[in-house]
Amino acid sequence: MPLHRKDLLGLQEVEPDEIRLILDTALSMKEVLARPIRKVPTLRGKSIVTLFYEPSTRTRTSFELAAKIMSADISSISPGGSSIVKGESVKDTVATLQAMGADMFVVRHQASGAPHFIASQVPAAVINAGDGMHEHPSQGLLDMLTILERKGRLDGLKVAIVGDITHSRVARSDMWGLTKMGATVRFVGPSTLLPAEVEKLPVEVYTDLEEGIADCDVINVLRIQLERQERGLFPSIREYSSLFGISRERLRAAKPDVVVMHPGPMNRGIEITAEVADSENAVVTTQVTNGVAVRMALCYLFLGGAANVAAA
Ligand code: CP
Repeated sequence: MPLHRKDLLGLQEVEPDEIRLILDTALSMKEVLARPIRKVPTLRGKSIVTLFYEPSTRTRTSFELAAKIMSADISSISPGGSSIVKGESVKDTVATLQAMGADMFVVRHQASGAPHFIASQVPAAVINAGDGMHEHPSQGLLDMLTILERKGRLDGLKVAIVGDITHSRVARSDMWGLTKMGATVRFVGPSTLLPAEVEKLPVEVYTDLEEGIADCDVINVLRIQLERQERGLFPSIREYSSLFGISRERLRAAKPDVVVMHPGPMNRGIEITAEVADSENAVVTTQVTNGVAVRMALCYLFLGGAANVAAA
């Protein structure tokens, strides 16, 4: 079953059978990652460009590693080290890179919809690596892979996403992906950090943390974006932490084997205590490892890798 699209711009428009294909392919990629020599020739001759207008550690590095493991050529462009700083437009930048033969663009941009615009301009595949407050689909996929590995299924699970939902593209991708795969998603946070018209989304909404995580299989803790406090969206870090921070005591409201996730970067001591972040319930580093496997799968599927990866 092939993917039904040229680009991956969000999980809202992706079919469940496509999500299954990507997750199954990512599991095959984990076998490649477990080998002593992590190198396959699958994407030799393919050219991938990462185009990041915002900072990143995990997403950018894992796409770069994924490309290198699969023998693709990879170039990394960011505003500071490119003609973007001289005022070159997005349209001219991607036209220039396309003219050099790019087969895939991996794009992060502060504006929601920027990857969609780029996808409309180029024949190359475009992967959204996070656009504004819209989506971060490869993060949603790696979160699903991590839950699937720990719980053996997605269908029927209860997943609480806690914190600054309004500004979180991770929350949106998790919501679309997980609900398509049969999980129940809860948004948990102060009402000022819940999106407008949240009642139209396929989620349950809680403004009390212990009610929100009660009986949950998974808690995904979002980063509190400290810059938001200046806009008065919550009174103080201390108050946020006491009401919504995930601590050992608070976890007692969830199932004993609850899986605790965080997309990173973490503010230890604010949205999650160091004790929980380093506990056996937490899977933060597994998420990062799975990020490489998922991004290998995306490069493979969107670049039409011909070889059988497991046999390569
Ligand atoms: N989770 C995530 O997107 O992290 P980075 O900003 O480091 O890529």
